[in-house]
Amino acid sequence: MTPFKHTFITIIALVAQLLPCIQAQVQPTTTYQPPPIASGNVSSSSSSNKVNARWSQLLGNALYFYDIQRSGTLPNNFRVDWRNNSVPNDGSDVGLDLSGGFFDAGNYIKATFPLCWVVTQLSWGGMMFGKGFDDSQQTAYLDSTLRVALDWLMTASSKQDEMVVLIGSDDFYWGGDQNIPTNDRPSYTITREKPGTDVFGSCASALTSASMLYAGTPLPISTTQNGTVASLQDANYSTTLLQRAETLFDLAQSSTPQQVYQKATKGVAWAYPSTDYADELVLSSTFLALATGNQTYADYAQKTYATNQFPFPNGALNWDQHTSATPVLLTQLSIARPSMGVSMSKYQTDSEKWLDNIVNKNMPQTFTTPGGLFYFDGDSDSASLNPSLNAAFLMMVYRRMASSTTKDRGYRSFAESQIDYALGKNPMNTVYAVGIHNNSAENPQSALASGGTNPKLIDTVPAQEAHVLYSGIVGGPDQNDNYYDQRSNWEQTEVALDSQSAMIVLAAHQLTTNASDPFYTGMTEERVILPYDADGGGGGGLSTGAQIAIAVVVIVVVLGLLAGLAFWQRERLRSLIRRRRFEKYEKS
Ligand SMILES: *[C@@H]1O[C@H](CO)[C@@H](O)[C@H](O)[C@H]1NC(C)=O
Ligand SMILES: *[C@@H]1O[C@H](CO)[C@@H](O)[C@H](O)[C@H]1NC(C)=O
Ligand SMILES: *[C@@H]1O[C@H](CO)[C@@H](O)[C@H](O)[C@H]1NC(C)=O
Ligand SMILES: *[C@@H]1O[C@H](CO)[C@@H](O)[C@H](O)[C@H]1NC(C)=O
Ligand SMILES: *[C@@H]1O[C@H](CO)[C@@H](O)[C@H](O)[C@H]1NC(C)=O
Ligand SMILES: *[C@@H]1O[C@H](CO)[C@@H](O)[C@H](O)[C@H]1NC(C)=O
Ligand SMILES: *[C@@H]1O[C@H](CO)[C@@H](O)[C@H](O)[C@H]1NC(C)=O
Repeated sequence: MTPFKHTFITIIALVAQLLPCIQAQVQPTTTYQPPPIASGNVSSSSSSNKVNARWSQLLGNALYFYDIQRSGTLPNNFRVDWRNNSVPNDGSDVGLDLSGGFFDAGNYIKATFPLCWVVTQLSWGGMMFGKGFDDSQQTAYLDSTLRVALDWLMTASSKQDEMVVLIGSDDFYWGGDQNIPTNDRPSYTITREKPGTDVFGSCASALTSASMLYAGTPLPISTTQNGTVASLQDANYSTTLLQRAETLFDLAQSSTPQQVYQKATKGVAWAYPSTDYADELVLSSTFLALATGNQTYADYAQKTYATNQFPFPNGALNWDQHTSATPVLLTQLSIARPSMGVSMSKYQTDSEKWLDNIVNKNMPQTFTTPGGLFYFDGDSDSASLNPSLNAAFLMMVYRRMASSTTKDRGYRSFAESQIDYALGKNPMNTVYAVGIHNNSAENPQSALASGGTNPKLIDTVPAQEAHVLYSGIVGGPDQNDNYYDQRSNWEQTEVALDSQSAMIVLAAHQLTTNASDPFYTGMTEERVILPYDADGGGGGGLSTGAQIAIAVVVIVVVLGLLAGLAFWQRERLRSLIRRRRFEKYEKS
């Protein structure tokens, strides 16, 4: 063998050895820890770094939140040093190891349906604003967050024709991660015989979009330009995810009856009841058309879209309702795969119906609060920032594909108004991301972070939250912009996986467009702290007269809503079956 050949073979062998490392999970060069809270107020222009330090901090802290929410056996040297291993037996009742994954919100359940939207949203953003993750050195954490979710979803769907949709009952436990009751953590499943078309479909969207991200596929950001993809490619993982996605899509499409998952399995409706499934069928088949180039999926998406009378120009975008996102993704399909014959102008027009209704304040059941928050009657009554930030997400995803630059500007400015509101530009002068500014909300409802163990003393013991829930996006204020920063007030102070993902993508967008610092940086106003309300929840200290007046208004509104119900489309019904996670606790 010539020395040259020998060297060559050695190099090949080395590369072959390195290959699995290259393809495996991305490792951070240095461990990111949230910086001191006061740094959120320091202008990034004082730094020589071209990457905006403040948006990087928000993005980094917001991803750190997911680590706080982790379940199961944690890695060695885990960066959240106050978290412990927990719930090792999750899934054992159905023969699966579902100990990993994320706790859903301020409590300890694991919910598949909202998790699928989180993965879809992060992957979608990672294929458009990926440079934001790369530049802020957060790609490794995007990768680890996605893998924790994806590995859990893969296990939850690993038995043929079955999927776990929820772990946990509505028994309320308030305490740390060492004493989580294990006797009320049943696994609820859907099957081919008893399907949940929505969850099968939503999970197919999650796995397909993540598969595209791991394959390094960009999504268009305009009619002529692709977005940037976060650098976390892993071809093998991508293939594995896509195979499962196609299986799940087949379950959504072919198992009968097609129905929402709370019809298939008793015991889940209290947590995340679903409104509809047609939106999931369209979104997942569109992602599959993008990922595979298979015309069958594009045809199915368009046919299902048409038979369900989409576009639907009203209704929130959130973990449940994705109708408004379908024409946006179809527009991206028409640009990315022109040979599929999907009409760009049709889906632009359709996308803009919903977006314009919001920007032009024409959407029924919505209004803008005096302080500027976009508010959905019903959907915004708990977690008001969730519909607002999700709408901002879709505006930023779509805006450069708009039919005119005026619309692009309008969508961007609407989205930025909602981001600003969440980050301090509101009558409370409160930053609704925890631990990033002196004006941040301080009492998120989080059993993990609070340090308390007695639900009766939830607001007062301990006086100060034991752990900082970095950049946890709290529920948000009420329709008068009032915010009561107390843990019992779950409608306003609870954190959840799915408000977080919208803000993460928005921060990545801001990084890729060199936006100026977040609103809170340099903020001089004092935070308004409303008086403690012993009953828990907003509206503290109302007189009896005011309460009667409110009761009368509520009755009139309820009657009005019921009368209007017949005219509504199905999407709206969801607001009547709100999340009721803490109903039990509130009654006690
Ligand atoms: C983790 O365990 C430590 C030591 O027992 C405890 O102090 C801490 O509160 C636990 N963390 C949570 C979130 O319960
Ligand atoms: C966008 O990305 C796709 C897929 O990688 C590629 O085929 C296409 O040429 C790109 N388009 C532009 C305008 O760069
Ligand atoms: C490919 O991915 C699967 C599932 O994640 C894993 O079990 C397998 O070891 C991977 N193969 C390689 C060559 O990395
Ligand atoms: C396209 O997808 C359909 C449905 O999954 C499948 O039956 C068909 O074989 C696929 N076609 C190609 C060319 O892969
Ligand atoms: C932080 O805010 C509180 C009120 O929310 C105020 O009392 C305190 O002075 C502020 N700290 C600084 C350093 O401005
Ligand atoms: C943002 O700033 C960088 C560095 O100055 C520059 O290269 C890039 O073009 C800017 N991007 C935008 C969208 O303004
Ligand atoms: C934030 O920065 C502004 C402007 O530099 C300053 O006036 C204000 O006092 C700072 N707030 C805090 C809490 O440090």
